[in-house]
Amino acid sequence: MEPRREKIRFEQGDALHLRADLGSFDVVLAANILCRVSEPKKLLAKLMSHVRPGGLLAITTPSTWNHIFTPRENWLGGFESEHAPVCTLDGLTEALSPSFGMLTRIDMPLLIREHARKFELIIAEGTAWRRTADASLVP
Ligand SMILES: C[S@@+](CC[C@H](N)C(=O)[O-])C[C@H]1O[C@@H](n2cnc3c(N)ncnc32)[C@H](O)[C@@H]1O
Repeated sequence: MEPRREKIRFEQGDALHLRADLGSFDVVLAANILCRVSEPKKLLAKLMSHVRPGGLLAITTPSTWNHIFTPRENWLGGFESEHAPVCTLDGLTEALSPSFGMLTRIDMPLLIREHARKFELIIAEGTAWRRTADASLVP
């Protein structure tokens, strides 16, 4: 099948300030950005608003929360609540429910070469979420 080049367009911008008229999509992917923005919940809200009802939101994250990127009060996980540890999947589930339900979760290893003799192995967590047919998120 011929590639449909006319259907592909690249844009670069701030994920926290995506233009509202960007449109809605069958699949939205956030690859290893969640714990690199200052407001991860705002990022998720933006991404959710661009997924068609029935569409997918795919998120991979190493969950390396760091105050350099994200004020501690905005972390989705990696901290203790009053009663128990909170992991990023807990925070994601809370932020995405009830409009999105999780379909799958997988480990996604990636290797970063620092130099010829030093590599960093990261096991990112990949999750896929399906948007339910509610109309409340349509921009
Ligand atoms: C850990 S890297 C991941 C790069 C790539 N997505 C991947 O999975 O290999 C995080 C990336 O997020 C970008 N980033 C951080 N804040 C951003 C924002 N507000 N909008 C768009 N990109 C951002 C950084 O520039 C960096 O390239």
